[in-house]
Amino acid sequence: MAEDAILNVFRGDKDGGKMVEYRVPMVPGMVVLDAVHSVQAMHSPDLAVRWNCKAGKCGSCSAEVNGRPRLMCMDRMDQYPSGESVVVRPMKAFPVMKDLVTDVSWNYDVNRKIPAVLVAPEHFQDCFFGHLIFFRSIPSIPPAFPEAASIPVQSSRFSAG
Ligand code: FES
Repeated sequence: MAEDAILNVFRGDKDGGKMVEYRVPMVPGMVVLDAVHSVQAMHSPDLAVRWNCKAGKCGSCSAEVNGRPRLMCMDRMDQYPSGESVVVRPMKAFPVMKDLVTDVSWNYDVNRKIPAVLVAPEHFQDCFFGHLIFFRSIPSIPPAFPEAASIPVQSSRFSAG
């Protein structure tokens, strides 16, 4: 029989809250976000948690796990001592809205203040299967990978992915 994962999760809002212990079945390869989802499914469907990509890209699942800022979708449960509680709290850097969800609207406010940059197609190169873009004709920005400079420009292939 699989051992249970023990989570101590903050439940509350901006006015306060408390830590609540949950036990969910441990699954091979389980990450903290999986365990939190198990808590939602098995114990508390009203537990608030934000996530989006589940691939460590978007940052939506940020939380403090055992006192350290982590991406819950990338934070494996098996790295924590078995039989010990894993403490999951909302990020301290942002105001709590509910449970593990914080108000990150400040990020969007700052983003709106950053001027947009329009780059003509001949100034960018899509390389390494669309995962990296550099501006090869701007001399002040060196290419991240010098070998990419030898890849022919394919201006019709553009991806910010
Ligand atoms: S869900 Fe996107 S980084 Fe974790």
